[in-house]
Amino acid sequence: MEVAAVRTDNGVMNTLSRPRPVAAGTRPPAGRRVLVGVTGGIAAYKAAELVRLLRGAGHDVQVVMTEAATRFVTPLTLQALSGKPVRTGLWDEAAEAAMGHIELARWAEQVVVAPASADFLARLAGGRADDLLATLCLATTAPIVLAPAMNHRMWLNPATQANVALLSGRGLRFVGPADGEQACGEVGPGRLAEPADILAALRDPSGADGGLLSGRHVLLTAGPTREAVDPVRFISNRSSGKMGFALAAALTAAGARVTLVSGPVCLATPPGVERHDVESADEMYRKVHALIADVDIYIGAAAVADYRPTQCADRKIKKTSDCLDITLTRAPDILSSVAALARRPFVVGFAAETNDVERNARDKLERKKLDMIAANDVSEGRAFDRDDNALIVLWADGRRQLSQQRKCELADELVAVIAERYLLSAGAQPALTVLA
Ligand code: C5P
Repeated sequence: MEVAAVRTDNGVMNTLSRPRPVAAGTRPPAGRRVLVGVTGGIAAYKAAELVRLLRGAGHDVQVVMTEAATRFVTPLTLQALSGKPVRTGLWDEAAEAAMGHIELARWAEQVVVAPASADFLARLAGGRADDLLATLCLATTAPIVLAPAMNHRMWLNPATQANVALLSGRGLRFVGPADGEQACGEVGPGRLAEPADILAALRDPSGADGGLLSGRHVLLTAGPTREAVDPVRFISNRSSGKMGFALAAALTAAGARVTLVSGPVCLATPPGVERHDVESADEMYRKVHALIADVDIYIGAAAVADYRPTQCADRKIKKTSDCLDITLTRAPDILSSVAALARRPFVVGFAAETNDVERNARDKLERKKLDMIAANDVSEGRAFDRDDNALIVLWADGRRQLSQQRKCELADELVAVIAERYLLSAGAQPALTVLA
Protein backbone atom coordinates (compact mmCIF):
# COMPACT_ATOMS: atom_id res chain seq x y z
CA MET A 1 0.00 0.00 0.00
CA GLU A 2 1.24 3.49 -0.82
CA VAL A 3 1.81 5.67 2.21
CA ALA A 4 2.28 9.36 2.78
CA ALA A 5 4.17 10.77 5.72
CA VAL A 6 2.36 13.74 7.23
CA ARG A 7 3.88 16.03 9.83
CA THR A 8 1.31 17.08 12.42
CA ASP A 9 1.41 20.33 14.37
CA ASN A 10 3.26 18.71 17.25
CA GLY A 11 5.96 17.60 14.84
CA VAL A 12 5.11 13.90 14.93
CA MET A 13 5.25 12.06 11.62
CA ASN A 14 2.00 10.20 10.98
CA THR A 15 1.75 7.54 8.32
CA LEU A 16 -1.46 7.73 6.34
CA SER A 17 -2.53 5.55 3.45
CA ARG A 18 -3.12 7.43 0.22
CA PRO A 19 -6.61 7.34 -1.28
CA ARG A 20 -7.08 3.76 -2.46
CA PRO A 21 -9.61 3.30 -5.24
CA VAL A 22 -12.72 1.70 -3.73
CA ALA A 23 -13.97 -1.59 -5.15
CA ALA A 24 -15.13 -1.30 -8.75
CA GLY A 25 -18.75 -1.86 -7.80
CA THR A 26 -18.88 1.20 -5.56
CA ARG A 27 -17.12 3.78 -7.72
CA PRO A 28 -19.52 6.42 -9.03
CA PRO A 29 -18.85 7.24 -12.68
CA ALA A 30 -18.57 10.97 -12.08
CA GLY A 31 -17.24 12.52 -8.88
CA ARG A 32 -19.10 15.31 -7.16
CA ARG A 33 -17.81 18.40 -5.35
CA VAL A 34 -18.15 17.44 -1.72
CA LEU A 35 -17.68 19.86 1.14
CA VAL A 36 -16.69 17.95 4.28
CA GLY A 37 -17.37 19.78 7.55
CA VAL A 38 -15.52 18.58 10.64
CA THR A 39 -16.63 19.71 14.10
CA GLY A 40 -15.05 19.27 17.52
CA GLY A 41 -15.22 15.76 18.95
CA ILE A 42 -12.91 12.81 19.38
CA ALA A 43 -14.45 11.17 16.31
CA ALA A 44 -12.90 13.99 14.22
CA TYR A 45 -9.96 11.68 13.51
CA LYS A 46 -12.32 9.46 11.49
CA ALA A 47 -12.91 12.37 9.11
CA ALA A 48 -9.47 11.53 7.70
CA GLU A 49 -10.74 8.12 6.60
CA LEU A 50 -13.92 9.64 5.17
CA VAL A 51 -11.91 12.14 3.09
CA ARG A 52 -9.68 9.27 1.89
CA LEU A 53 -12.74 7.22 0.84
CA LEU A 54 -14.36 10.20 -0.89
CA ARG A 55 -11.20 10.92 -2.91
CA GLY A 56 -10.86 7.21 -3.71
CA ALA A 57 -14.45 7.25 -5.01
CA GLY A 58 -13.53 10.05 -7.41
CA HIS A 59 -14.99 13.06 -5.55
CA ASP A 60 -13.46 16.51 -5.35
CA VAL A 61 -13.19 17.27 -1.62
CA GLN A 62 -12.92 20.57 0.26
CA VAL A 63 -12.60 20.35 4.04
CA VAL A 64 -13.88 23.02 6.44
CA MET A 65 -13.11 22.61 10.15
CA THR A 66 -14.51 24.38 13.17
CA GLU A 67 -12.00 25.84 15.60
CA ALA A 68 -12.75 23.03 18.09
CA ALA A 69 -12.16 20.35 15.44
CA THR A 70 -8.59 21.59 14.91
CA ARG A 71 -7.86 20.58 18.52
CA PHE A 72 -8.57 16.93 17.69
CA VAL A 73 -7.04 16.59 14.22
CA THR A 74 -4.72 18.95 12.41
CA PRO A 75 -5.77 20.82 9.26
CA LEU A 76 -2.51 19.62 7.70
CA THR A 77 -3.63 15.98 7.93
CA LEU A 78 -6.89 16.73 6.12
CA GLN A 79 -5.07 18.96 3.64
CA ALA A 80 -2.75 16.08 2.73
CA LEU A 81 -5.71 13.75 2.19
CA SER A 82 -8.03 16.18 0.40
CA GLY A 83 -5.30 17.76 -1.70
CA LYS A 84 -6.66 21.26 -0.88
CA PRO A 85 -5.92 23.82 1.85
CA VAL A 86 -8.37 23.34 4.70
CA ARG A 87 -10.60 26.29 5.61
CA THR A 88 -11.05 26.99 9.30
CA GLY A 89 -12.19 30.58 9.81
CA LEU A 90 -14.67 33.09 8.51
CA TRP A 91 -12.14 35.88 8.85
CA ASP A 92 -9.23 34.43 6.85
CA GLU A 93 -8.55 37.30 4.40
CA ALA A 94 -6.31 35.29 2.04
CA ALA A 95 -8.82 32.43 1.79
CA GLU A 96 -11.74 34.82 1.37
CA ALA A 97 -9.88 36.53 -1.49
CA ALA A 98 -9.38 33.14 -3.24
CA MET A 99 -12.81 31.58 -2.70
CA GLY A 100 -15.16 33.54 -0.47
CA HIS A 101 -17.50 31.69 1.82
CA ILE A 102 -20.51 32.29 -0.41
CA GLU A 103 -18.61 30.98 -3.43
CA LEU A 104 -17.63 27.93 -1.39
CA ALA A 105 -21.30 27.40 -0.51
CA ARG A 106 -22.11 27.60 -4.25
CA TRP A 107 -19.20 25.33 -5.18
CA ALA A 108 -20.51 22.45 -3.04
CA GLU A 109 -22.75 19.87 -4.72
CA GLN A 110 -22.97 17.94 -1.48
CA VAL A 111 -22.23 18.87 2.13
CA VAL A 112 -21.42 16.25 4.75
CA VAL A 113 -20.61 17.12 8.37
CA ALA A 114 -18.74 14.30 10.12
CA PRO A 115 -18.60 14.32 13.03
CA ALA A 116 -21.47 16.70 13.79
CA SER A 117 -21.25 17.63 17.49
CA ALA A 118 -24.24 18.38 19.75
CA ASP A 119 -23.21 22.04 19.73
CA PHE A 120 -23.06 22.13 15.93
CA LEU A 121 -26.54 20.56 15.61
CA ALA A 122 -27.85 23.19 18.05
CA ARG A 123 -26.24 26.03 16.11
CA LEU A 124 -27.57 24.67 12.81
CA ALA A 125 -31.06 24.21 14.25
CA GLY A 126 -30.92 27.79 15.54
CA GLY A 127 -29.91 29.14 12.11
CA ARG A 128 -26.67 30.58 13.50
CA ALA A 129 -23.90 31.85 11.22
CA ASP A 130 -21.24 32.25 13.88
CA ASP A 131 -18.44 30.35 12.16
CA LEU A 132 -17.48 29.37 8.60
CA LEU A 133 -19.09 25.90 8.62
CA ALA A 134 -22.43 27.07 10.06
CA THR A 135 -22.44 29.98 7.59
CA LEU A 136 -21.80 27.63 4.66
CA CYS A 137 -24.59 25.29 5.76
CA LEU A 138 -26.94 28.27 5.89
CA ALA A 139 -25.86 29.61 2.51
CA THR A 140 -25.66 26.43 0.44
CA THR A 141 -28.42 24.91 -1.67
CA ALA A 142 -26.60 21.54 -1.77
CA PRO A 143 -28.05 18.59 0.15
CA ILE A 144 -26.63 18.28 3.67
CA VAL A 145 -25.87 14.98 5.38
CA LEU A 146 -25.06 15.05 9.10
CA ALA A 147 -23.16 12.26 10.87
CA PRO A 148 -23.56 13.00 14.59
CA ALA A 149 -21.08 11.79 17.18
CA MET A 150 -21.23 12.56 20.88
CA ASN A 151 -21.68 11.02 24.32
CA HIS A 152 -24.84 8.90 24.29
CA ARG A 153 -26.48 10.97 27.05
CA MET A 154 -25.89 14.12 25.04
CA TRP A 155 -27.40 12.40 21.98
CA LEU A 156 -30.45 11.19 23.92
CA ASN A 157 -30.97 14.54 25.66
CA PRO A 158 -34.36 15.98 24.64
CA ALA A 159 -32.65 19.21 23.52
CA THR A 160 -30.46 17.33 21.01
CA GLN A 161 -33.37 15.13 19.90
CA ALA A 162 -35.51 18.23 19.32
CA ASN A 163 -32.73 19.73 17.19
CA VAL A 164 -32.45 16.50 15.20
CA ALA A 165 -36.22 16.46 14.61
CA LEU A 166 -36.13 20.11 13.52
CA LEU A 167 -33.23 19.56 11.12
CA SER A 168 -34.78 16.35 9.70
CA GLY A 169 -38.01 18.27 9.14
CA ARG A 170 -36.03 20.80 7.11
CA GLY A 171 -34.77 18.01 4.83
CA LEU A 172 -31.28 17.50 6.26
CA ARG A 173 -30.38 13.80 6.30
CA PHE A 174 -28.76 11.94 9.20
CA VAL A 175 -26.48 8.94 9.05
CA GLY A 176 -25.93 7.29 12.42
CA PRO A 177 -25.01 7.62 15.17
CA ALA A 178 -24.08 3.99 15.69
CA ASP A 179 -24.57 2.17 18.95
CA GLY A 180 -21.64 0.79 20.92
CA GLU A 181 -18.62 1.54 23.04
CA GLN A 182 -17.71 5.21 23.23
CA ALA A 183 -14.39 7.00 23.68
CA CYS A 184 -15.58 8.09 27.16
CA GLY A 185 -15.84 4.41 28.16
CA GLU A 186 -19.66 4.38 28.20
CA VAL A 187 -21.86 2.36 25.88
CA GLY A 188 -24.82 3.62 23.86
CA PRO A 189 -25.89 5.48 20.72
CA GLY A 190 -23.43 8.24 19.82
CA ARG A 191 -20.58 6.66 17.86
CA LEU A 192 -19.85 8.19 14.48
CA ALA A 193 -21.23 6.00 11.66
CA GLU A 194 -18.51 4.09 9.83
CA PRO A 195 -16.89 6.28 7.11
CA ALA A 196 -17.91 3.68 4.46
CA ASP A 197 -21.54 4.00 5.60
CA ILE A 198 -21.32 7.79 5.43
CA LEU A 199 -19.97 7.44 1.89
CA ALA A 200 -22.88 5.13 1.02
CA ALA A 201 -25.35 7.68 2.42
CA LEU A 202 -24.04 10.31 -0.01
CA ARG A 203 -25.15 8.41 -3.07
CA ASP A 204 -28.05 9.68 -5.08
CA PRO A 205 -30.93 7.55 -3.70
CA SER A 206 -32.41 7.31 -7.23
CA GLY A 207 -29.30 5.42 -8.35
CA ALA A 208 -28.92 8.02 -11.10
CA ASP A 209 -25.22 8.33 -10.41
CA GLY A 210 -24.62 4.81 -11.61
CA GLY A 211 -22.89 1.87 -9.99
CA LEU A 212 -22.38 -1.67 -11.26
CA LEU A 213 -25.70 -2.85 -9.84
CA SER A 214 -27.70 0.23 -10.74
CA GLY A 215 -31.33 -0.71 -11.39
CA ARG A 216 -30.94 -4.24 -9.96
CA HIS A 217 -33.01 -5.49 -7.04
CA VAL A 218 -31.13 -7.48 -4.39
CA LEU A 219 -32.90 -9.44 -1.64
CA LEU A 220 -30.62 -10.17 1.29
CA THR A 221 -31.08 -12.05 4.57
CA ALA A 222 -28.97 -11.27 7.65
CA GLY A 223 -28.61 -12.04 11.34
CA PRO A 224 -29.65 -15.09 13.35
CA THR A 225 -33.09 -16.64 13.70
CA ARG A 226 -34.78 -17.46 16.99
CA GLU A 227 -36.70 -20.71 17.37
CA ALA A 228 -39.13 -20.55 20.29
CA VAL A 229 -39.03 -23.27 22.95
CA ASP A 230 -41.72 -21.63 25.08
CA PRO A 231 -43.01 -18.03 25.44
CA VAL A 232 -39.75 -16.87 27.09
CA ARG A 233 -37.01 -19.14 25.68
CA PHE A 234 -35.54 -19.74 22.28
CA ILE A 235 -32.72 -21.51 20.42
CA SER A 236 -30.48 -19.19 18.42
CA ASN A 237 -26.86 -18.74 17.31
CA ARG A 238 -23.95 -16.28 17.53
CA SER A 239 -24.59 -14.32 14.32
CA SER A 240 -24.52 -10.53 14.89
CA GLY A 241 -25.75 -9.63 11.39
CA LYS A 242 -22.74 -7.30 10.89
CA MET A 243 -21.61 -8.93 7.63
CA GLY A 244 -25.12 -8.92 6.15
CA PHE A 245 -25.72 -5.27 7.13
CA ALA A 246 -22.31 -4.27 5.71
CA LEU A 247 -23.31 -6.05 2.50
CA ALA A 248 -26.62 -4.19 2.38
CA ALA A 249 -24.72 -0.86 2.63
CA ALA A 250 -22.17 -1.94 -0.01
CA LEU A 251 -24.93 -3.10 -2.39
CA THR A 252 -26.72 0.24 -2.02
CA ALA A 253 -23.44 2.01 -2.73
CA ALA A 254 -23.13 -0.10 -5.91
CA GLY A 255 -26.49 1.32 -7.04
CA ALA A 256 -28.72 -1.66 -6.19
CA ARG A 257 -32.20 -1.44 -4.72
CA VAL A 258 -31.76 -3.45 -1.53
CA THR A 259 -34.41 -5.31 0.46
CA LEU A 260 -33.13 -6.75 3.72
CA VAL A 261 -34.88 -9.48 5.71
CA SER A 262 -33.27 -9.46 9.12
CA GLY A 263 -33.39 -11.70 12.17
CA PRO A 264 -33.12 -10.07 15.63
CA VAL A 265 -30.00 -7.84 15.66
CA CYS A 266 -28.90 -4.58 17.33
CA LEU A 267 -27.89 -2.77 14.15
CA ALA A 268 -29.11 0.38 12.44
CA THR A 269 -30.60 -0.02 8.97
CA PRO A 270 -28.15 1.27 6.33
CA PRO A 271 -29.51 4.35 4.54
CA GLY A 272 -31.70 3.59 1.54
CA VAL A 273 -32.31 -0.05 2.51
CA GLU A 274 -35.87 -1.45 2.88
CA ARG A 275 -35.83 -3.63 6.00
CA HIS A 276 -38.23 -6.36 7.14
CA ASP A 277 -37.72 -7.83 10.61
CA VAL A 278 -38.51 -11.47 11.34
CA GLU A 279 -37.73 -13.87 14.17
CA SER A 280 -37.90 -17.52 13.16
CA ALA A 281 -36.69 -19.51 10.13
CA ASP A 282 -40.34 -20.11 9.15
CA GLU A 283 -41.08 -16.38 9.21
CA MET A 284 -37.90 -15.65 7.23
CA TYR A 285 -38.90 -18.29 4.65
CA ARG A 286 -42.36 -16.75 4.22
CA LYS A 287 -41.05 -13.19 4.03
CA VAL A 288 -38.36 -14.10 1.45
CA HIS A 289 -40.90 -15.86 -0.77
CA ALA A 290 -43.34 -12.95 -0.45
CA LEU A 291 -40.62 -10.56 -1.68
CA ILE A 292 -38.78 -12.66 -4.29
CA ALA A 293 -40.87 -11.88 -7.40
CA ASP A 294 -38.78 -9.17 -9.09
CA VAL A 295 -35.44 -9.97 -7.44
CA ASP A 296 -32.29 -10.15 -9.61
CA ILE A 297 -29.86 -11.33 -6.92
CA TYR A 298 -30.61 -13.25 -3.70
CA ILE A 299 -27.96 -13.34 -0.97
CA GLY A 300 -28.49 -15.63 2.02
CA ALA A 301 -26.21 -14.11 4.66
CA ALA A 302 -28.47 -15.04 7.59
CA ALA A 303 -27.48 -17.80 10.00
CA VAL A 304 -30.80 -19.59 9.71
CA ALA A 305 -31.57 -22.32 12.25
CA ASP A 306 -31.31 -25.82 10.79
CA TYR A 307 -33.67 -27.22 13.41
CA ARG A 308 -36.51 -25.78 15.46
CA PRO A 309 -38.42 -27.21 18.44
CA THR A 310 -41.19 -29.40 17.03
CA GLN A 311 -43.60 -27.78 19.46
CA CYS A 312 -43.46 -24.45 21.24
CA ALA A 313 -44.97 -24.83 24.73
CA ASP A 314 -47.95 -22.55 25.40
CA ARG A 315 -46.67 -21.74 28.87
CA LYS A 316 -43.24 -21.29 30.41
CA ILE A 317 -41.71 -24.75 31.00
CA LYS A 318 -41.15 -25.38 34.74
CA LYS A 319 -38.02 -27.05 36.04
CA THR A 320 -39.76 -30.06 37.54
CA SER A 321 -37.32 -32.74 36.32
CA ASP A 322 -33.52 -33.09 36.09
CA CYS A 323 -33.66 -33.74 32.37
CA LEU A 324 -35.62 -32.05 29.66
CA ASP A 325 -35.91 -33.45 26.14
CA ILE A 326 -36.76 -31.08 23.35
CA THR A 327 -37.59 -32.69 20.01
CA LEU A 328 -36.34 -30.74 17.03
CA THR A 329 -37.64 -30.69 13.46
CA ARG A 330 -35.73 -29.52 10.35
CA ALA A 331 -36.37 -25.88 9.53
CA PRO A 332 -36.99 -24.99 5.86
CA ASP A 333 -33.80 -24.38 3.86
CA ILE A 334 -34.55 -20.95 2.46
CA LEU A 335 -31.49 -20.76 0.22
CA SER A 336 -32.19 -24.11 -1.49
CA SER A 337 -35.84 -23.19 -1.93
CA VAL A 338 -34.89 -19.94 -3.72
CA ALA A 339 -32.35 -21.77 -5.90
CA ALA A 340 -35.07 -24.29 -6.84
CA LEU A 341 -37.49 -21.64 -8.16
CA ALA A 342 -38.36 -21.99 -11.84
CA ARG A 343 -37.44 -18.35 -12.52
CA ARG A 344 -34.64 -18.02 -10.03
CA PRO A 345 -32.47 -15.00 -9.33
CA PHE A 346 -28.67 -15.20 -9.17
CA VAL A 347 -28.25 -17.04 -5.85
CA VAL A 348 -25.40 -16.42 -3.40
CA GLY A 349 -25.02 -18.42 -0.20
CA PHE A 350 -22.71 -18.28 2.79
CA ALA A 351 -20.97 -21.16 4.48
CA ALA A 352 -19.72 -20.89 8.04
CA GLU A 353 -17.34 -23.79 8.56
CA THR A 354 -15.00 -24.88 11.35
CA ASN A 355 -12.99 -27.40 9.27
CA ASP A 356 -12.25 -28.27 5.62
CA VAL A 357 -13.68 -24.85 4.82
CA GLU A 358 -13.23 -24.87 1.04
CA ARG A 359 -14.20 -28.52 0.48
CA ASN A 360 -17.37 -28.19 2.57
CA ALA A 361 -18.30 -24.90 0.89
CA ARG A 362 -17.85 -26.31 -2.62
CA ASP A 363 -19.97 -29.28 -1.66
CA LYS A 364 -22.69 -26.86 -0.45
CA LEU A 365 -22.43 -24.80 -3.67
CA GLU A 366 -23.21 -27.93 -5.72
CA ARG A 367 -25.74 -29.53 -3.37
CA LYS A 368 -27.81 -26.34 -2.97
CA LYS A 369 -27.41 -25.45 -6.69
CA LEU A 370 -26.02 -21.99 -5.95
CA ASP A 371 -24.34 -19.57 -8.36
CA MET A 372 -21.80 -18.52 -5.75
CA ILE A 373 -20.84 -19.19 -2.15
CA ALA A 374 -18.81 -17.10 0.32
CA ALA A 375 -17.12 -19.32 2.87
CA ASN A 376 -15.72 -18.24 6.19
CA ASP A 377 -13.77 -20.02 8.86
CA VAL A 378 -15.67 -19.75 12.15
CA SER A 379 -13.31 -21.92 14.19
CA GLU A 380 -11.75 -20.42 17.34
CA GLY A 381 -14.09 -17.41 17.54
CA ARG A 382 -13.26 -16.09 14.05
CA ALA A 383 -15.99 -14.24 12.12
CA PHE A 384 -18.97 -14.27 14.53
CA ASP A 385 -19.77 -10.94 16.21
CA ARG A 386 -16.46 -9.45 15.11
CA ASP A 387 -15.75 -6.36 13.04
CA ASP A 388 -13.35 -8.09 10.67
CA ASN A 389 -13.38 -11.27 8.64
CA ALA A 390 -11.90 -13.04 5.59
CA LEU A 391 -13.75 -14.98 2.87
CA ILE A 392 -13.13 -17.52 0.15
CA VAL A 393 -15.59 -16.94 -2.69
CA LEU A 394 -16.35 -19.96 -4.89
CA TRP A 395 -18.36 -20.48 -8.06
CA ALA A 396 -18.59 -23.42 -10.49
CA ASP A 397 -15.27 -22.87 -12.22
CA GLY A 398 -13.51 -20.30 -10.09
CA ARG A 399 -12.54 -18.97 -6.71
CA ARG A 400 -11.32 -15.73 -5.14
CA GLN A 401 -9.74 -15.18 -1.76
CA LEU A 402 -10.70 -11.97 0.07
CA SER A 403 -8.17 -11.13 2.78
CA GLN A 404 -8.82 -10.44 6.49
CA GLN A 405 -10.19 -6.87 6.77
CA ARG A 406 -13.00 -4.83 8.28
CA LYS A 407 -16.42 -6.21 7.35
CA CYS A 408 -17.48 -2.99 5.57
CA GLU A 409 -14.42 -3.12 3.30
CA LEU A 410 -14.80 -6.87 2.83
CA ALA A 411 -18.43 -6.26 1.85
CA ASP A 412 -17.31 -3.79 -0.86
CA GLU A 413 -14.97 -6.42 -2.30
CA LEU A 414 -17.56 -9.18 -2.13
CA VAL A 415 -20.15 -6.98 -3.87
CA ALA A 416 -17.63 -6.29 -6.66
CA VAL A 417 -17.14 -10.07 -7.16
CA ILE A 418 -20.90 -10.75 -7.03
CA ALA A 419 -21.58 -7.95 -9.54
CA GLU A 420 -18.88 -9.24 -11.88
CA ARG A 421 -20.18 -12.85 -11.86
CA TYR A 422 -23.83 -11.75 -11.95
CA LEU A 423 -23.29 -9.47 -14.94
CA LEU A 424 -21.42 -12.24 -16.77
CA SER A 425 -24.22 -14.73 -16.09
CA ALA A 426 -26.94 -12.15 -16.86
CA GLY A 427 -25.88 -12.31 -20.52
CA ALA A 428 -27.16 -15.89 -20.68
CA GLN A 429 -29.84 -15.46 -18.00
CA PRO A 430 -31.72 -12.14 -18.36
CA ALA A 431 -32.66 -10.28 -15.20
CA LEU A 432 -36.09 -11.25 -13.86
CA THR A 433 -37.24 -7.67 -14.22
CA VAL A 434 -36.86 -8.12 -17.99
CA LEU A 435 -38.78 -11.41 -18.03
CA ALA A 436 -41.62 -10.19 -15.84
O1 C5P B 1 -26.32 -25.63 5.13
P1 C5P B 1 -25.82 -24.40 5.82
O2 C5P B 1 -26.71 -23.93 6.92
O3 C5P B 1 -24.39 -24.46 6.24
O4 C5P B 1 -25.85 -23.29 4.66
C1 C5P B 1 -25.61 -21.95 4.91
C2 C5P B 1 -26.32 -21.12 3.88
O5 C5P B 1 -27.67 -21.58 3.74
C3 C5P B 1 -26.41 -19.67 4.27
O6 C5P B 1 -26.41 -18.91 3.08
C4 C5P B 1 -27.78 -19.58 4.96
O7 C5P B 1 -28.33 -18.29 4.86
C5 C5P B 1 -28.59 -20.61 4.18
N1 C5P B 1 -29.61 -21.31 4.97
C6 C5P B 1 -30.94 -21.11 4.68
N2 C5P B 1 -31.91 -21.79 5.37
C7 C5P B 1 -31.57 -22.67 6.32
C8 C5P B 1 -30.23 -22.90 6.63
C9 C5P B 1 -29.26 -22.20 5.93
O8 C5P B 1 -31.26 -20.28 3.81
N3 C5P B 1 -32.53 -23.30 7.00
